[in-house]
Amino acid sequence: MPTKTITPTVIKARKGGPPIVCLTSYTAPMTKLVDPHADLILVGDSLAMTIYGMASTVGVTQEMMIAHGRAVVHAASRACVVVDLPFGSYEESPMQAFRTAASIMAETGCAAVKLEGGTVMAETIHFLTSRGVPVMAHIGLTPQSVNALGGYAVRGRSESEAAMIMADAEAVADAGAFSVVIEKTAEPLARAVTDRIIPPTIGIGASVACDGQILVVDDMIGFFTEFHPKFVRRYAEVAQSVEAAIASYAADVRTRRFPAQEHVFAGTIRERPLA
Ligand code: KIV
Repeated sequence: MPTKTITPTVIKARKGGPPIVCLTSYTAPMTKLVDPHADLILVGDSLAMTIYGMASTVGVTQEMMIAHGRAVVHAASRACVVVDLPFGSYEESPMQAFRTAASIMAETGCAAVKLEGGTVMAETIHFLTSRGVPVMAHIGLTPQSVNALGGYAVRGRSESEAAMIMADAEAVADAGAFSVVIEKTAEPLARAVTDRIIPPTIGIGASVACDGQILVVDDMIGFFTEFHPKFVRRYAEVAQSVEAAIASYAADVRTRRFPAQEHVFAGTIRERPLA
C-alpha cells in the first residue's frame, strides 16, 4: 500500500495556514475524484445514511467501516485517509478504543481514526495517541449521541453549552488530537475555539474561520437529497442527472433503441437447414 503524501502530522502543521480541504468518501470511484483535490478524506459513519439508507449512524458496524475504509485507502494516493470509529466500538474504555482503532488501521491501512466526544473522551484520546494512533476528535454536534441529545439541533448557543464545548475542545487538544471537527455549532463559538486550541479545527456548519472545512460529498454533489442541511452548499445536482440518464435508458430498452449497432459484436452463424 503506498504511503499517502499528506499525513496527520502534515495536517496538524497546517494550523492557521491555507484552509484544509476535507470531504467524505466511501467508495473507490468517488475517492479517485476526491483525492486530487482534498487534503483529507474521511470515511465517515455518515455512510449509514448515504450508502445504507439508515436513519442514523447508530447502527454502523466495524465491518462496514473496514470494508469502505479499505476501498478508499486503496483508491487514494495523496490525501490523508481517516476512518470513523463506529458507535459502541470505543466508548467503554481506552483499551476497547485501542483494540478497535488498531484493527481498523491494520485492516484498512488508514492514517488515523476519528471519534466523537470531548472531555469524556480525553483519556481515551491520550491513550490512543500515546500508542501510535493519530486521532481526529469530533465535538459540538456529535451525531452518534442523537438519542441522548434528542435530535440534531445547533450546539453552543447558550452560555453554559458554549462553555462546555470550549472545555471539550481544550480537553481533546490537550489529549493529543491532531485535528478537531466542530459540527453544527454556533459560529462565534467555533471561531473562538479555533483561536484557542493548537490543533487545526475542521468545520461543518461551524465557521469560515475554522482551519479547514468538511462536507459529506453526497450532500455537496446533490446525490443524497433526502434533506438539505443549511450548512451544505450544493455544487452539483447529480441525483437529477442520474435519474434522467436512467429514465432515458429505460425508454431506449422499451423501444429497442438500445443496444444499437455499435454496441453489439459482428460474427457469423451457419444457417441450419430447416428439418
Ligand atoms: O460521518 C461523517 O461524515 C462525519 C462528518 C460529517 C464530519 O462525521
